[in-house]
Amino acid sequence: MLLQLSSFLLFLLIPVSSQPSQIFYAGFKGVGGNNMTLNGVAEIEHNGILKLTNDSSKVMGHAFYPTAFQFKNSSDGKAFSFSSSFALVIVPEFPKLGGHGLAFTIATTKDLKALPSQYLGLLNSSDIGNFSNHLFAVEFDTAQDFEFGDINDNHVGIDINSLASNDSAPAGYYNGDGDSSKQNLTLKSGKPILAWVDYDSSQSVIHVTISPSSTKPKRPLLSFPVDLSPILEKSMYVGFSASTGLLASSHYILGWSFQIDGPAPPLDLSTLPQLPGPKKKHTSLMVGVSVSCFVLALCTILFGIYMYRRYKNADVIEAWELEIGPHRYSYQELKKATKGFKDKELLGQGGFGSVYKGTLPKSKTLVAVKRISHDSNQGLREFVSEIASIGRLRHRNLVQLLGWCRRRGDLLLVYDFMANGSLDKYLFDDPETILSWEQRFKVIMDVASALLYLHEGFEQVVIHRDVKASNVLLDGELNGRLGDFGLARLYDHGANPSTTRVVGTLGYLAPELPRTGKATPSSDVFAFGALLLEVACGLRPLEPKALPEDMVLVDCVWKKYTQGRILDVVDRKLNGDFNEREVVTVLKLGLLCSNGAPGSRPSMRQVMRFLHGEAGLPDELRKPEDVGYQEGFDEFLHSLESSSFDQMSTSSFGRNRDVDASFPYFANTR
Ligand SMILES: *[C@@H]1O[C@H](CO)[C@@H](O)[C@H](O)[C@H]1NC(C)=O
Ligand SMILES: *[C@@H]1O[C@H](CO)[C@@H](O)[C@H](O)[C@H]1NC(C)=O
Ligand SMILES: *[C@@H]1O[C@H](CO)[C@@H](O)[C@H](O)[C@H]1NC(C)=O
Ligand SMILES: *[C@@H]1O[C@H](CO)[C@@H](O)[C@H](O)[C@H]1NC(C)=O
Ligand SMILES: *[C@@H]1O[C@H](CO)[C@@H](O)[C@H](O)[C@H]1NC(C)=O
Ligand SMILES: *[C@@H]1O[C@H](CO)[C@@H](O)[C@H](O)[C@H]1NC(C)=O
Ligand SMILES: *[C@@H]1O[C@H](CO)[C@@H](O)[C@H](O)[C@H]1NC(C)=O
Repeated sequence: MLLQLSSFLLFLLIPVSSQPSQIFYAGFKGVGGNNMTLNGVAEIEHNGILKLTNDSSKVMGHAFYPTAFQFKNSSDGKAFSFSSSFALVIVPEFPKLGGHGLAFTIATTKDLKALPSQYLGLLNSSDIGNFSNHLFAVEFDTAQDFEFGDINDNHVGIDINSLASNDSAPAGYYNGDGDSSKQNLTLKSGKPILAWVDYDSSQSVIHVTISPSSTKPKRPLLSFPVDLSPILEKSMYVGFSASTGLLASSHYILGWSFQIDGPAPPLDLSTLPQLPGPKKKHTSLMVGVSVSCFVLALCTILFGIYMYRRYKNADVIEAWELEIGPHRYSYQELKKATKGFKDKELLGQGGFGSVYKGTLPKSKTLVAVKRISHDSNQGLREFVSEIASIGRLRHRNLVQLLGWCRRRGDLLLVYDFMANGSLDKYLFDDPETILSWEQRFKVIMDVASALLYLHEGFEQVVIHRDVKASNVLLDGELNGRLGDFGLARLYDHGANPSTTRVVGTLGYLAPELPRTGKATPSSDVFAFGALLLEVACGLRPLEPKALPEDMVLVDCVWKKYTQGRILDVVDRKLNGDFNEREVVTVLKLGLLCSNGAPGSRPSMRQVMRFLHGEAGLPDELRKPEDVGYQEGFDEFLHSLESSSFDQMSTSSFGRNRDVDASFPYFANTR
C-alpha cells in the first residue's frame, strides 16, 4: 500500500526540451516536487502536500513551476491553448470564517511583489489593474472584498491584471446542462476540490470547472470569452498564490497537472496524498466508559481552574468572546508590545482612552493600540460585537483593525500603525510640515472613497459619526486613511437607525443631530463638508479664538462666495500654489455638503462624481441654513453628559479655549 502510494507520488514527467509543455504532480514528494520554486510561507510537507499558507494572519505563499513555458507562437504571436487541473483544499482557522483564498496563476515572474489579504499575493495597490502586469489568474476566494466588487465570500473568478474579476460565479458545479442542476460547493469546507482551467485558443474562451469528485462535470462553472494573446507574454511561469488576512485559512494543493496545446493529464483524488483527517472515534463500550470518566475528571479539574482563575485573574475569556471574528490578542502580548503601556509609547489621548505605539513581539510589526476603559460589561459586550463587523471592513483608505483584546473593564483595539500621524497636525496653527494642494486633494479623494465604501460598499450601512481632520490618518506614503470606528454603529440596510445618543465633534455635527439624535449617511456628509473646507482653508470649522463673524468657517466661506471672491479663503500657507478648478470644486462642494437641510446634501456617490469632475456643481449654490450651534449647544452638552458609554471629552471645549481635537489618535500632541 505504502509502496503503491509512493510510486504514485514519484510519478512525474519532466519533458526533455528546455521549454517544457507538460507538468504532472500527483503529490509533490520526491524528485521534481521539491523542485517547485517556493516563496513566502509556502512549503512542501513531508506527506507531499503543497501548503501555500498556514493559518497565520496576513501571510502569503507562492509556488511556481521552476521553468517558464512558451505560451505563444513565435511567428504569429497567438496564445496557445492550455489546460490545467489541480486539487485544492482550504481549511479555515475558524469554521465558516475563511481568508482570503488561493489562485491559479500565470505570471511573468516567479517573484511577485505583492500584498497578502485581498490582493491574494498576486498584485499590490500600486500595480493593480495595470495592463503591463501581464497577469492571468483564476481565484478561489473565500472572503468578500467590496473594494474589488466580490460577489460573495465563496466564489471562483477569472482575474486579468486586476483582482476585480472579469467574470465570477458562486462556487458550485453543474450536474447536468440546465441552470437548475447547479450544486453549491463550499470552498473552505476543508474537503478536496478538483478544478480545471482550460483555454481554447481557436474559440478564444476560458472555461473553469470545479467538482468535489474526480469526474469533470460537462458544463463548466465559468466560460469567459477572451483572447489571451495580448495578455500573456511569450514566456510565462505557472503556479499558485495564496494569502491570508485578519481571518486566515490554510491553503493546500494536493496534485497538479498542466499541458500546453492539449488536455491536461487527469488527476484522481483517490491517488493523491490526503490531509490527516480528524481522529477516529472509539467504538468500544469500555473505551467509551473510560473516556467519559476521564472527561468528567477533566471537566472537574477545568472547572476548578476556571473558578480559580475567575477569582485570581480577570482575563478570562467568556463564551461570547469566542464568537467574535477578528484576531483576539492576549493581554500579555499587547502589554509586551507597548512595553507595559509606558507613557513613552503614548501617541495620543482623548475622551475614549489612550493610544499607544507598539511592536508585536512575534511578527515585529508596528501597531497602534487603543485602550478604552469601561466599567459595564453589558456595554462592552455590545461594543465588541460591533467590532466583529468592523473587523470585516476592508478598504485601502480605512485604518485596518487588526484585532482586539479584553481584560476586565479594558478593551484594547489593535490597528495598523500610521507613520505620518493625523491630518490636523498638517493643517492648523503653525504646522511643521505643510501639505501641497496636490497632496491635500489626494487625501480628500481617499477619505471620500472610504466614506462611500462605508455608506454603500458593505453589507450594512456604516455611519462613521466622527469624520474630522484628527480622524484622518496618513500612512507612510501620505495616503489618507479614515480611522476610529469607535463611534460607528451599524444598522442594516433599510432598517431605521435605532440609536438616540448623539456623538461626534462640535463643528462637524450636522445641525439636525442634537434635535433628532439620529446619525445618518447625510450627517457624515455634513462632517465631510466641514473637512473639505478646513483642508482648503487650513482653518478649523469652529475657531473660538476668531472674531465672532469669522468663528464659523462655513459662514466665512459663504460670505466670500457671495462676494465672488471665494479664492480669498484658500489657505495662505499654500502661497497661491494650487489647481484653481480643484480648489473651487472643493470649496463649493464643502458649502453644498454643509447645507443645514439633510435632504439638500449630496450622497457620497454624488460627491465622488463631483470630485472626479464627472458631474458639474450647480452654478448657483443655495445659502446653507444657519447651522445654529448657539441654540443647540447647551442641549447638546446635556445629552453628552447623560450618555453612558460615549464619553466625549467635552470639558476642554470652551469659548476661550481651542476646540478640542477630541481624539487625536496618532497625533503628536500629548
Ligand atoms: C529541477 O527542475 C529542472 C528544470 O525542470 C530539472 O532540469 C531538474 O532535473 C530538476 N531537478 C530535480 C532534482 O528534480
Ligand atoms: C506559519 O508558517 C510560518 C513560516 O513557516 C511560521 O513562522 C508560523 O509560525 C506558522 N504559523 C502557524 C500558526 O503555524
Ligand atoms: C505558429 O503560427 C504559424 C503561422 O500561423 C503556423 O504555421 C504554425 O503552425 C504555428 N506553430 C504552432 C506550434 O502552432
Ligand atoms: C508593486 O508591484 C510592482 C510590479 O510587480 C513592483 O514594481 C512594485 O515595486 C510593487 N510595489 C510595492 C509597493 O511593493
Ligand atoms: C503601469 O505600469 C507601468 C510600468 O510599471 C507604468 O509605467 C505605468 O505608469 C503604469 N500605469 C498606471 C496607469 O499605473
Ligand atoms: C478585465 O478586467 C480588467 C479590470 O477590471 C479590465 O481592465 C479589462 O479590460 C478586462 N478584460 C477583459 C478582456 O474583459
Ligand atoms: C446555493 O447558493 C445560493 C447562493 O449562493 C442560494 O441562493 C441557493 O439556495 C443555494 N442552493 C442550494 C441547493 O443550497
